[in-house]
Amino acid sequence: MEKLKKIKEELATLLSKERYIHSLGVMEMAEQLAKIYGIDTDIAALVGITHDIAKEMPNEEKLKYIKENNIEIDEIEKHSIGLLHAKIGADIVKKKYDFTQNMQNAIKYHTTAYPDMDLLAKIVFASDKIEKNRKYDEVEKFRELAKQDIDTCMLEMLNYVIKRNIDKGVLIHPDSIYARNKLLLKI
Ligand SMILES: [Fe+2]
Ligand SMILES: [Fe+2]
Repeated sequence: MEKLKKIKEELATLLSKERYIHSLGVMEMAEQLAKIYGIDTDIAALVGITHDIAKEMPNEEKLKYIKENNIEIDEIEKHSIGLLHAKIGADIVKKKYDFTQNMQNAIKYHTTAYPDMDLLAKIVFASDKIEKNRKYDEVEKFRELAKQDIDTCMLEMLNYVIKRNIDKGVLIHPDSIYARNKLLLKI
């Protein structure tokens, strides 16, 4: 796919080596899961490779970008600048690569999750946490679960992330709680 090739080349120069390798891992994982769940693998690859496009923007620049592009941020995001790379990334891919709304949303929700995520967004959220370069105790369990049942996987991942944030004493974005509640009520 010509578009993917061009974007990969751009990201290779834009991101640090480590971040680019992670992005390639997310791309591969998202393609694999897209195949399993019957959605467009090219779309999943494009979103996977670009999901962290704004991750390495310095904080000052992030705040400037938010202002200049009229992106609304909430109280939690004001205090957790790191979260902003998701919203900024979604805006960049819209303007730079003409990504569709659901592709933008998958990038927008990849850190906090969101109650109304479609399959693409769930796949990108999960792929970010289980791509082949990720190493933590639960990763194998999540990798298996992602291939079997994406909703249960999302629920388990949110439980894990929320618990960890409590242990660390850091803020929890309400969208993560809403997303978890929705999954709990559905499963
Ligand atoms: Fe990210
Ligand atoms: Fe990521």
